[in-house]
Amino acid sequence: MTDKKPEDADSIVLIGDGEARTAADQLRCLNEIAATTGIEDDDFSRGGSVGQLERAMAERLGKESAIFMPTGTLANHLAIRRHCGTGGRAAVQEQSHLFNDTGDSLQRLSSINLVPLATGRVYFTAAELKEAYETSVTGRVMNPISAVMVETPVRRRSGQIVPWPEVQAISEVSRSLGIPSHLDGARLFMVAAATGNDVRDYSDLFDSVYVSLYKFLGAPFGGILAGNSDFIDGMYHDRRMFGGGLAQTALVAALALHGLPGFAEKFAAALEKGKQLMRAIDGIPGLSVTPFEHSSNIFPLTLADNLDLDRFKSALADHGIFIYPPEQPGEPGVRPIDLHVNATMLRRPNDELASAFSAAAAQATA
Ligand SMILES: Cc1ncc(COP(=O)(O)O)c(C=O)c1O
Repeated sequence: MTDKKPEDADSIVLIGDGEARTAADQLRCLNEIAATTGIEDDDFSRGGSVGQLERAMAERLGKESAIFMPTGTLANHLAIRRHCGTGGRAAVQEQSHLFNDTGDSLQRLSSINLVPLATGRVYFTAAELKEAYETSVTGRVMNPISAVMVETPVRRRSGQIVPWPEVQAISEVSRSLGIPSHLDGARLFMVAAATGNDVRDYSDLFDSVYVSLYKFLGAPFGGILAGNSDFIDGMYHDRRMFGGGLAQTALVAALALHGLPGFAEKFAAALEKGKQLMRAIDGIPGLSVTPFEHSSNIFPLTLADNLDLDRFKSALADHGIFIYPPEQPGEPGVRPIDLHVNATMLRRPNDELASAFSAAAAQATA
């Protein structure tokens, strides 16, 4: 048994969206912010540091306005609700968070049906969107698709991304059909670093965009929804109607504001280093890493049949490297383990990490 822990300062933690942060880390960070830039109180999530964050994110995303949301679930819901009005239908990926993980909230709470496209796949094409729209306006009862949402990267497909030319084509089709579009960019800052685009390149193609504040930016929860002033104005009433007008969120906003500067550079460096490490791991006997077709920061590691997974995992932990096999592994002998590259990758040199993988594989071989 190792005495090393994922929260140690030099641990390499190959899961999650960013560096895991404990409440104690966040308190330390807040104290530092309070002593330097300061934290300004808000009033039920309006003004103060929350207002500063909304302005900073609107500017960063190239949108006129932005509003804090307590969750991404609510940000996506209210965005689609505003685009569609109460009624109508929104085209989404079948694999999206909105379709799978919100308990049919749009259908049940806002009378908006979702039209799931690209079943089991990462993304739908612009041509598929067009076809779905045509079907929606040629039925016995006219019921047009009245909004479209794109999620990229797709959490349920190991963080794979919608290819950039397809994002552009989907945006072009939705504009030509006059359908408002929304981007679920929960991990937009990460995907921008992974593709070499700016976050603005993405947000320019959509009428509204949601970005998570806790996945990479260091806040404990929350999201930002950005769009035109007309779209965002008055949205705080909707937020409150759905029970999301939190009384004090300045601490959350201050942490996210702190996480913004330098993120793109840091993450791009982590990803580049991570890719080099994955290539090195792929050369180790018993281990293989074959990147996904549209990969962002997640890489599947497959162990040879004669490697014992538990021994491999605990040998890596002895080196301060933490991996998280799925609870229900696939076929024996396949056992892909998603390795998530995040900024913890920058903590130690690749040579040292590759040697640790090599030693762990040798130790775990029957
Ligand atoms: C792609 C995507 N969208 C939206 C959400 C919802 O975010 P929240 O947990 O803030 O409701 C998640 C959360 O995992 C997500 O992965």
